[in-house]
Amino acid sequence: MTERTSIHGQWSNRLMFILAATGSAVGLGNIWKFPYITGENGGGAFVVVYLICIAIVGVPIMMAEIMIGRRGRQSPINTMRSLAKNENAHPAWSLLGWGGVLAGFFILSYYSVIAGWALSYVFRTAVGIFNGVTADGAQNIFSDLVGDPERLLAWHTLFMVMCMAVVARGVRHGLEKAVRILMPALFVLLLVLLAYAYNTGAFQQGLEFLFTPNYTKVFFDCKVINEVESCTFNGEPVLVAMGHAFFTLSLGMGAIMVYGSYMPKQNSITSSAIIIALLDTVVALIAGMAIFPLVFANGLEPSSGPGLIFQTLPIAFGAMPGGQIFGTIFFVLLVFAAWTSGISLIEPAVAWLVENKSMSRLRASIWVGLSVWFLGLGSVFSFNVWSGEEYQLFGKTFFDLLDYLSANIMLPLGGLLIALFAGRYISRSSSVDEFNMGDGFIYKIWRLVIRRVTPVAVVIVFLNATGAIDWLLSKNLPW
Ligand code: TRP
Repeated sequence: MTERTSIHGQWSNRLMFILAATGSAVGLGNIWKFPYITGENGGGAFVVVYLICIAIVGVPIMMAEIMIGRRGRQSPINTMRSLAKNENAHPAWSLLGWGGVLAGFFILSYYSVIAGWALSYVFRTAVGIFNGVTADGAQNIFSDLVGDPERLLAWHTLFMVMCMAVVARGVRHGLEKAVRILMPALFVLLLVLLAYAYNTGAFQQGLEFLFTPNYTKVFFDCKVINEVESCTFNGEPVLVAMGHAFFTLSLGMGAIMVYGSYMPKQNSITSSAIIIALLDTVVALIAGMAIFPLVFANGLEPSSGPGLIFQTLPIAFGAMPGGQIFGTIFFVLLVFAAWTSGISLIEPAVAWLVENKSMSRLRASIWVGLSVWFLGLGSVFSFNVWSGEEYQLFGKTFFDLLDYLSANIMLPLGGLLIALFAGRYISRSSSVDEFNMGDGFIYKIWRLVIRRVTPVAVVIVFLNATGAIDWLLSKNLPW
């Protein structure tokens, strides 16, 4: 049998796959979202749960996604359909591909708005607006930006056009070129920021916040009633930590699956997955270590939400020597990190249109891009004209809802199904063959984890967050 390849092409070599997948994984999730949700969820204890999720849920699912993608060699929708057929599973498994396309649309629609903030900060920093800025000043500049729908719209549009342009050019010319230099450069600049944070005087405090877990404070709501303290478990931070593990590794919606479908057959899936997860985690932790000292040194609130890095980093750039240049480069690289992530969010949909509707990549990218752009208007308005309570549902704006639904519900659900499919529907011989590493120790561990540990962990976290476990415990059931 000749080796199957994808009609969309293939990565030049393993390094390109790792760079592209790392490009997808490392993005706003690491530098923008990780610090702000860690701030909102109380710090260290949240970080510990997040790291556990990366290890026992993230890495095994990433291996499963790459394996499925490479075996199917098509867009996630068609890959799921043909693998289900080969393995005698129900054709409805292709719905997993559809769910992923939808999740990708949802995520990119608000992701692009935030990437737009980063774009606009490139220019703000370059012209020196932040030189010598105070904490108040940085906050005002940020509120002015998000309060202005027209400006947000312009930047959101620009970012979407950038993503469409790369995706239209395809695997080798579009995706590969962008990641080769930019990812390493981003890493170096993060180290520069870290060095600055080290000298702020609040470095110790920042590290403590990030790495000293206070489980009681984070996971329990305690009240003193009649001098007796009673605590209830709060599963929400666990759900957010798990959701973020999926988000930051780009898992649960087919992005890594579609990248896997372009991976040459002889490359190792296991070591690639581990490298990608490690790089992603290191970037997030460095970002956190650079940002929290700045937060504390400037008397800001760790829980200030999505604006956190946009309100803290300019203060650092405004004060450090050469900050105007470093700052500009930093935001340029942040845009690139977002860009290499954004393209992976629409690649599954574009690949499907090319396969099934025989569209050119260009046309497919335009259609997908336009739909995502339109959905993004909801997030543009969430920060200004629709920020009021009358436009909120469950106390969340459109942006908050979309983020919550996609990251905390759709991705873990997608991941759960991927784990079940890879571990229980794909036969042992098929997965051994695809992993290319024999039925040895590592394979056995993976299979055990993907069949038993990962699905159970995801279900428990879901139940927890809905309060179901608390409710059961409070019932004093006979067992
Ligand atoms: N992982 C990216 C980040 O951290 C975002 C992202 C890209 C993503 N592709 C994805 C998230 C697919 C979920 C699914 O910024």
